[in-house]
Amino acid sequence: MRRRLAAGNWKMNGGLASLGEIDALAAAHPAPRSEVVICPPATLLVPARDRARGTPLRLGGQDCHAEPAGAHTGDISAAMLKEAGAAYVILGHSERRGDHGETGELVRAKATAAQAEGLTAIVCVGEQLSEREAANTLDIIGGQMSASIPDGSTGHNLVVAYEPVWAIGTGRTPTPDQIGEVHDFMRARLERRFGAGVGRSVRLLYGGSVRAGNAETIFAVSNVDGALVGGASLTAAEFAPIVSALEAAAG
Ligand code: 13P
Repeated sequence: MRRRLAAGNWKMNGGLASLGEIDALAAAHPAPRSEVVICPPATLLVPARDRARGTPLRLGGQDCHAEPAGAHTGDISAAMLKEAGAAYVILGHSERRGDHGETGELVRAKATAAQAEGLTAIVCVGEQLSEREAANTLDIIGGQMSASIPDGSTGHNLVVAYEPVWAIGTGRTPTPDQIGEVHDFMRARLERRFGAGVGRSVRLLYGGSVRAGNAETIFAVSNVDGALVGGASLTAAEFAPIVSALEAAAG
């Protein structure tokens, strides 16, 4: 009942020359049953939208402001992302929480603004290595979910991504049991807060060093509905096989 989702987060990478990757990805997966989303830098959204037209690929932003407009130099509103072709926006990524001091409350305000514009918020949560080593992972994830996820969330306007900070860009991944423990916990939290219907309809992504080589194992874990992929989403050569693994898992 949950449509699987592979989202690529290009972060601050790529330029106009990278748009060919969108063509190659669409050629590799012309009609996927899973949803496939690319989140390029904001400067590439409009040309990426033009490249993705006529394909099932969808686009997302990497952040938005909580306000609809105003004196916020350097920021981008949810409406601007939508106009530029985004259907999704990543919010509360650990790099934004870390580099820009984003709090759970701010992430919630941004997600509320995104949902009000009709975007689907991909809200990221994840523990630091020290927090895992102190056996605080579930407390951290639960607290981040409570603070960051808006009350009006549904299976249409919310996706939650579990991204352990220590697994991002490191080549390290949690064990399947560790991923399953967190995803089962997140599912239970969503069902408790939003009721079983909504709680079961929200897609849960795993993110952090997902590669073609580990995707099949990760996608077999309970309550993993897809992946939020960083480095391996930058080229179709690396991302297309991850989408293939998700398609196989959706079998
Ligand atoms: P990597 O796949 O490069 O580890 O990044 C994960 C991530 O942060 C996606 O948002």
